[in-house]
Amino acid sequence: MNLIKKILAAQAAVLALWAVAAQAATNEDAIAKRLEPVGEVCVMGEECAGVGAVAAAAGGGARSADDVIAKHCNACHGSGVLGAPKIGDTAAWQARADAAGGIDGLLKNAITGINAMPPKGTCNDCSDDELMAAIKQMSGL
Ligand code: HEC
Repeated sequence: MNLIKKILAAQAAVLALWAVAAQAATNEDAIAKRLEPVGEVCVMGEECAGVGAVAAAAGGGARSADDVIAKHCNACHGSGVLGAPKIGDTAAWQARADAAGGIDGLLKNAITGINAMPPKGTCNDCSDDELMAAIKQMSGL
């Protein structure tokens, strides 16, 4: 009896140690992640992956209208989901611009959202300029 208890206790101890070791390993991963360099070295004349992301995060306006549309607006405005004015259907956009008091009114409604149109068209980190560029590109106005 006693022996069995001892064996069980030993096994529990091993399990506990193993759990601690596993925990330590994940902590090390997390620490390694935190220690990763923030910036990467970019060589002049070569494509530098980090720059675009940093510029976009800093609101550097690195995204083109096409990028914003492809990532955020096309899902609805490409095919006219939920009654969204379609890309290139200038007449539909013009009618909306007239109702909203011009293209600035369209921008305002795009920022706040209108009916099924979500605020900023889901591009939450888009600047007003980026949204305006996307609206101009989609509407042809
Ligand atoms: C989830 C679908 C969806 C996405 C994504 C979306 N839109 Fe829309 N959008 C709509 C719908 C639906 C309408 C029509 C709303 C209404 O008037 O009922 C609309 C209308 C608009 C209008 C006209 C507003 C007005 O005053 O009539 C603008 C401008 C606009 N969207 C810009 C954008 C931009 C820019 C993006 C991308 C950054 C975007 N939308 C992404 C669904 C979407």
